[in-house]
Amino acid sequence: MTTVRTLALAALCLWAAASPSHAADTTAAQQLAHWSAQAGSPGNADKGKVFFTTRHGGEWSCASCHGTPPTAQGKHASTGKSIAPLAPAFNPKAFTDTAKVDKWFRRNCNDVLSRECTAMEKADVLAYVSAFNALKP
Ligand code: HEC
Repeated sequence: MTTVRTLALAALCLWAAASPSHAADTTAAQQLAHWSAQAGSPGNADKGKVFFTTRHGGEWSCASCHGTPPTAQGKHASTGKSIAPLAPAFNPKAFTDTAKVDKWFRRNCNDVLSRECTAMEKADVLAYVSAFNALKP
């Protein structure tokens, strides 16, 4: 049997393909509530948009890979691999696995900001991506 680690690696190579089973232990709404509580202030979609689309001194913004608006398939800025939409209304799997969310926040924030994102920044991003719905892409 393949290990979880191997599955995670396989997922890296097959973002667009069927993904391994996820824990489905959280939702975008729960993530938004969690990070807002940690930050002591509710996530703000407008601040999230600025954060998401701005480069923070490095080569990439979040939007470089996830697109603006993040409602369609994104494209990895260096590998060209496709990335499922980040906006939960357009991707039922987005923000449903705490371990995955934490992992990618850590990794992507490091790539973009050379540090971890703060709770406030995560709450703002959650508010931003959650603001999109099928009627208002
Ligand atoms: C260099 C490309 C790249 C950049 C830049 C990037 N990401 Fe990502 N991000 C990815 C990839 C690849 C995934 C994994 C997609 C998948 O497996 O579904 C991902 C996944 C995520 C996830 C997990 C979503 C889920 O399915 O639950 C979050 C949250 C996230 N990114 C946030 C951010 C934020 C915030 C920024 C900006 C600070 C950012 N990303 C910048 C490539 C990038």
